[in-house]
Amino acid sequence: MKKTRIAILASGGGSNARKIMEHFRNSDIAEVALVVSNKKDAGVLKIANEYHVPTLLIERQDFYQTNKFLTELEEREIEFIVLAGFLWLVPAYLVKAFSGKILNIHPALLPKYGGKGMYGHHVHEAVKAAGETESGPTIHWVNEHYDEGNILFQARCTINPEDTADDIARKVLELEHTHYPRIIEQEIRKGMHQ
Ligand code: GRF
Repeated sequence: MKKTRIAILASGGGSNARKIMEHFRNSDIAEVALVVSNKKDAGVLKIANEYHVPTLLIERQDFYQTNKFLTELEEREIEFIVLAGFLWLVPAYLVKAFSGKILNIHPALLPKYGGKGMYGHHVHEAVKAAGETESGPTIHWVNEHYDEGNILFQARCTINPEDTADDIARKVLELEHTHYPRIIEQEIRKGMHQ
């Protein structure tokens, strides 16, 4: 059976992308076929090279105003999209073309601490400032709004009073690495039976 071809979209360091590429390296059901970034110096592009995964650099104008990106995905037979630290809003045309096939991971327990501007350390600082006693990643389907699609999975960690925003970030990221690849696999498997 043909493997499901995954594209990862990422803007930053790419530690989740690495875990996902590692997870599917010898998989029979899916493969990471493309890594896309909006930043030419993003760490994720180097990681993709390590795993011999093709990369694509996108520009804002093309991404939002043309169908160039969609054509790229079609030519590469991409069937599933995974956002892993991708900071641009996903345009409506892409949500429509990949309906129910785009996943994102957010480093807090949505619906709290999501939305525009809530990324990276901003999230963990807000969680800390609010005096939350727990946090954790949310994996959700992507729609046209930041962090608002249906929630698929959440994992939780305890926040101790002495934990800094950096400590919280570390705990949450560890949970992301543990769960994101397996949840992606789970959803791809479900899709194969539809
Ligand atoms: C993660 O915390 C993820 O939840 C968020 O962006 C971060 C990406 O980190 N969406 P990395 O680039 O995978 O290390």
